[in-house]
Amino acid sequence: MRVQVAIIGGGPSGLLLSQLLMRAGISTVVLERQTRDYVLSRIRAGVLEQGMADMMRRAGVAERMEREGHVHDGTMLSTQNGLFRIDFKERCGQSVIVYGQTEVTQDLYAAQDAMGAQIVHEAKNVALHDVTSDKPWVTYEKDGQTHRVDCDYIAGCDGFHGVSRPTIPTSVRAEFERVYPFGWLGILSRTKPAADELIYANHPRGFALASMRNEKLSRYYVQVPLTDTVEQWSDEAFWDEFRRRIPAQVADTMEIGPSIEKSIAPLRSFVTEPMKYGRLFLVGDAAHIVPPTGAKGLNLAASDVHYLVEALTAAILDKDAAALDQYGPKALARIWSAMRFSWWMTTLMHRFPDQTEFDQKIQEAELTQLETMESAQVTMARNYVGLPY
Ligand code: APR
Ligand code: PHB
Repeated sequence: MRVQVAIIGGGPSGLLLSQLLMRAGISTVVLERQTRDYVLSRIRAGVLEQGMADMMRRAGVAERMEREGHVHDGTMLSTQNGLFRIDFKERCGQSVIVYGQTEVTQDLYAAQDAMGAQIVHEAKNVALHDVTSDKPWVTYEKDGQTHRVDCDYIAGCDGFHGVSRPTIPTSVRAEFERVYPFGWLGILSRTKPAADELIYANHPRGFALASMRNEKLSRYYVQVPLTDTVEQWSDEAFWDEFRRRIPAQVADTMEIGPSIEKSIAPLRSFVTEPMKYGRLFLVGDAAHIVPPTGAKGLNLAASDVHYLVEALTAAILDKDAAALDQYGPKALARIWSAMRFSWWMTTLMHRFPDQTEFDQKIQEAELTQLETMESAQVTMARNYVGLPY
């Protein structure tokens, strides 16, 4: 097989990149190691920045998002002083769209199918070859055979545990990381969401978040120690703990029910540089990981795709190879800005095992500024809805 761009990984990054490149007339193949059902079974955050929503529109896959997505003009924060709201619309004139990542992925798959995209599922043992030459190639195994893809460029959209980032020699790669001393225990339940907007709660017992997928599907999280396991948490124990961490006026009226998904996720901040190595480009979680507090993971993948489509179309269609060197610096500028916001929101909203009384007082002062200062709310709102590409 020969294509212009070989894409490793069929998650949101890979599918969105393939969709936009194909719409620009550039040939692609997506090599995904899991089955389509497995990819679609993943439960991930569903808060879309304006930029991501616009990317969906550019990709021609926004119809269901416009119909079923919920526009949120603000979010609630809960502290020991009670609830307060950050009005995105009032503070920065923008909103976010709550629309599950599973739905985003489904819409991208449907559009890729309609375009006759080449997506190979269960592509095992993907390996990248001659990535620093002008004739890179990729191999993978399927149905007991080894297949080869010759290409001009390779996009590593294969997530944090993929094969692309390790293809870049450690002598070339710089990695920046912060691992947080807690995890998020999350559940999905077929219940009415506790509130019309998200509630981020800072509580002495730990962080909690009330979110949703739609009016009949709720998503909740509580901060737990890294030593906790899902087996230790019955649904009843989860609901009791969650309702202790949010304001009584919400806890006393919210609908609870059996979990249809329950899992614990660790939190880390991670960036690798550079994002370009020869003809290989890292995209999305392959290059960076954010703690979910700021709901930036999917949205950063979208801006990476935006910059890479810009670079690849210039190089392939306009023969402007110099544009390729702009991808990393442009993507990283926005990545580090979102990395800072995600770190800030995580530090602001969680209780750290080793925090001192001084740390606690600083956290409370920061929360008071956020509750009472317009400038603090403008900064938070602009970061949450997404800074410009
Ligand atoms: N070969 C082929 N495919 C691979 C390999 C490999 N060696 N390793 C991983 N993959 C696939 C995974 O199965 C997954 O479907 O690459 C895909 C990577 O998808 P994500 O991990 O979702 O990363 P990305 O597409 O960058 O999306 C980023 O989506 O999953 C969320 O938390 C993530 O919100 C973030 C956003
Ligand atoms: C979610 O709905 O899963 C979600 C929403 C907002 C976040 C994190 C997760 O900040």
